[in-house]
Amino acid sequence: MSEIVVPVSSSVRSAAHVDAEGYQRLYEESIRDPEGFWRREARRIDWIEPFSIVKKTSFHEADFGVSWFEDGQLNVSANCLDRHLEARGDQVAILWEGDDPTESEAITYRDLHGRVCRAANMLKSMGVHRGSRVVLYLPMIPAAAVFMLACTRIGAIHCVVFGGFSPDSLAGRIQDSNATVVVTADEGRRSGRKVPLKANVDEALLRCPGVEKVLVVRHTGGAIAMQGGRDVWYHDLEASVASDCAPEPMGAEDPLFILYTSGSTGKPKGVLHTTGGYLVWSAITFHYVFDYKPGEVFWCTADVGWVTGHSYLVYGPLANGATTVMFEGVPNYPDFGRFWNVVDKYKVNILYTAPTAIRALMREGDDWVKQYSRASLRLLGSVGEPINPEAWQWYYKVVGGERCPIVDTWWQTETGGILISPLPGATDLKPGSATRPFFGIQPQIVDANGAVLDGATEGNLVLIDSWPGQMRTVWGDHERFFQTYFTTYPGKYFTGDGCRRDADGYYWITGRVDDVINVSGHRMGTAEIESALVSHVKVAEAAVVGMPHDIKGQGIYAYVTLNAGETGDEGLRKELVQWVRHEIGPIASPDVIQFAPGLPKTRSGKIMRRILRKIAEGDIGSLGDTSTLADPTVVDSLVAERAVRG
Ligand code: WT7
Repeated sequence: MSEIVVPVSSSVRSAAHVDAEGYQRLYEESIRDPEGFWRREARRIDWIEPFSIVKKTSFHEADFGVSWFEDGQLNVSANCLDRHLEARGDQVAILWEGDDPTESEAITYRDLHGRVCRAANMLKSMGVHRGSRVVLYLPMIPAAAVFMLACTRIGAIHCVVFGGFSPDSLAGRIQDSNATVVVTADEGRRSGRKVPLKANVDEALLRCPGVEKVLVVRHTGGAIAMQGGRDVWYHDLEASVASDCAPEPMGAEDPLFILYTSGSTGKPKGVLHTTGGYLVWSAITFHYVFDYKPGEVFWCTADVGWVTGHSYLVYGPLANGATTVMFEGVPNYPDFGRFWNVVDKYKVNILYTAPTAIRALMREGDDWVKQYSRASLRLLGSVGEPINPEAWQWYYKVVGGERCPIVDTWWQTETGGILISPLPGATDLKPGSATRPFFGIQPQIVDANGAVLDGATEGNLVLIDSWPGQMRTVWGDHERFFQTYFTTYPGKYFTGDGCRRDADGYYWITGRVDDVINVSGHRMGTAEIESALVSHVKVAEAAVVGMPHDIKGQGIYAYVTLNAGETGDEGLRKELVQWVRHEIGPIASPDVIQFAPGLPKTRSGKIMRRILRKIAEGDIGSLGDTSTLADPTVVDSLVAERAVRG
């Protein structure tokens, strides 16, 4: 099959911030002279105290450390709000669209500034100060952005927990971050149903004695319990606080937020991002990758509970003075035309969504899309997982009418923002490729032994130098930060992703090479799901692997060994799925549970996941070498059992 290339059109090129030569020139400069490049580019944000030191970074054990602009001072909320007031105080900052299509709200920069100041004062009145941790467990409502910004205004560290996580997962994150205040809502809404957020907080807090106050935003008006002395209504406090609050000058390396993400082992890690580098990175990538022009409407469909919602729903857009759409709902409610309805309603120019949503909508046919004009759309973005060429083509042809370039953006919670992506005016597109590195990014492809592979090749993706948006540590466990990312290939940041580079120097991310699975663009650690399963009384052992899934990209396939005397039947299968949902959240629900009398292990007791992955994929013709197994017959019974189930 000959490779498809979609060249940059001349109209897109001439309107864009950079063309191919511009990209090449800036990229080369960013590698040759990072100091000069970032000294200049960091000025796209306002500094209260300018920095003199640009970069102090090393990925080597002897002098390991990552710091950027370290003697500068700034405030994130002032960059996202105050500095826009004069020129665009009356421009809409946030366009909120409710789950219910009749509910919406437009919030100007001036309006948002006032709300953020009041929220900051509310937090202060609850004892929150510089460095305090505040957990935000909120639906996709303006208050989520307001409280993120309010934390940054007073130097508190926010820790947003996705509203789909269970009370247990929430409790773990509150405990690990030692938060003293939780901000939540009575309930959230999702496809017409209600999500019991406050009730979940109540359950979580039974295990979190460190939490002193819970601030509750009224959203649905549903009945909830309020605990005297601890729980406070937002609307009760609102009238009593001042509507201005001076932004706290923060050091560039002061913590900005913690966001928990799953790894290949252990509990989710608290990824810590800091103030200066993160803001520079989210601002510059938003400007170039989305080629943002003043006045345009940008819509990132991600939830603020994920890093995409942090960088491209809140910080990147607002730092650039953009209008950002916040959508509470889902793509298929009230019907499969919802996305395009919202695009037309708000004249969205740039849409940034995930392959899983694109595939789910593609399956419903083109008519849902074609009922709407979509004439405002100029650029489309994809994030979270590899986009298969078929979905890419549908997005390009049907959604974008072959007018809109697609930026397939590769990055991670750890990277703070986009690292590999086309720039609309500069990069010819290849469906399925994230294409080329952003300014300052130096990817390498290495083999399992760490040997650097040149030219067209395939292997593991590493990055050999730092960039301003890089995470700085794992909250409370700096050693884990170093161990997780810098020891597999000493002196290099290991992404955990496999990658191919073609003869044109384009990068094609092939997916995780560690024990992390990507379900609908959400990262799940297999170890976490296994530990949830084995905490059930009837389960002796569990092994979880990813399997191909048409819509979700990857599904969750769990092999479960029961305690002696237990029988694996349909009822228990359902019970275990419910159990995992309850322990972690609906996103961790196993798609398949296979009861296994035994798991394939080496003689030293290590589970051979390679074999389990093959069986889950149905690829039993190529199980590879099973001779090192302690009991090779285990594999035969797993294969037989799978065949029976079809
Ligand atoms: C993992 C990071 C990026 C923010 C949302 C997910 C996969 C992400 C792409 C892409 C192929 C991608 C990688 C990465 N991934 N974007 N455009 N093409 N794979 O952040 O939860 O930290 O997950 O998502 O495997 O390592 P995350």
